[in-house]
Amino acid sequence: MQVPDIIIAIDGYSSTGKSSFAKIIANEFSFLYLDSGALYRGVTLFAIENGFISEDNTIDVPALDKALENLDLHFGKEGTYIGDRCIEKEIRSLAVASKVSPIATVAEVRAFVDRKLREFGKNKRIVMDGRDIGTTVFPDAELKIFMTADPLVRARRRAAEMEAKGDKTDLQDVLKNLQERDYIDSHREVSPLTQAKDAIVLDNSEMTMDDQMDWIRKIIAERFGC
Ligand code: CDP
Repeated sequence: MQVPDIIIAIDGYSSTGKSSFAKIIANEFSFLYLDSGALYRGVTLFAIENGFISEDNTIDVPALDKALENLDLHFGKEGTYIGDRCIEKEIRSLAVASKVSPIATVAEVRAFVDRKLREFGKNKRIVMDGRDIGTTVFPDAELKIFMTADPLVRARRRAAEMEAKGDKTDLQDVLKNLQERDYIDSHREVSPLTQAKDAIVLDNSEMTMDDQMDWIRKIIAERFGC
């Protein structure tokens, strides 16, 4: 399928499979995939390791903001990096997941990540996933998808994914984490998670990845005549 030069923005709730979907889209249409959540996770790891966020999630915003000036956070061969250190495994841990949504409420952090995303996404033919891509980062994206699914289905998928990587998980802990993140993400002041007016909703509770690909091919064909 010959897809034109467009930006595809995928937003939605935690663990709805946005990144797996985006990766397959990128592969099939020869697009560049950009995972905005990985940058929020990277800033969170950096904040934990440098003491900018406490046990009770109090954040030293001025100190964090200052330190971000020199934070070399970027994508590389194996995923997300700080300088030449690959942080891909650490940023997927529950320790980071439990602090990422508080960190993502900080306006200074959002400005830092937005700057990077716009820089990485200067060209078209990108698919980016997150919470505010279609509303804030790329409000002019030609195709916006808003993903949702039943919370228990999402928790099961995420727990299976973590177990496949060898991490011990408790389904209830995973469910609690994703519901807490959804709440914080939807209620924060700066760029909350909301469906863009022109986004198409995809509830994939009962869909396979093949179903999802059929779904998007049909939409692209209808919308862009290809
Ligand atoms: O993989 P999952 O969907 O669970 O999360 P993620 O995409 O890795 O994002 C992790 C967290 O980063 C989210 O829960 C949000 O708090 C934050 N985030 C955000 O605020 N804005 C984005 N564009 C992307 C992520």
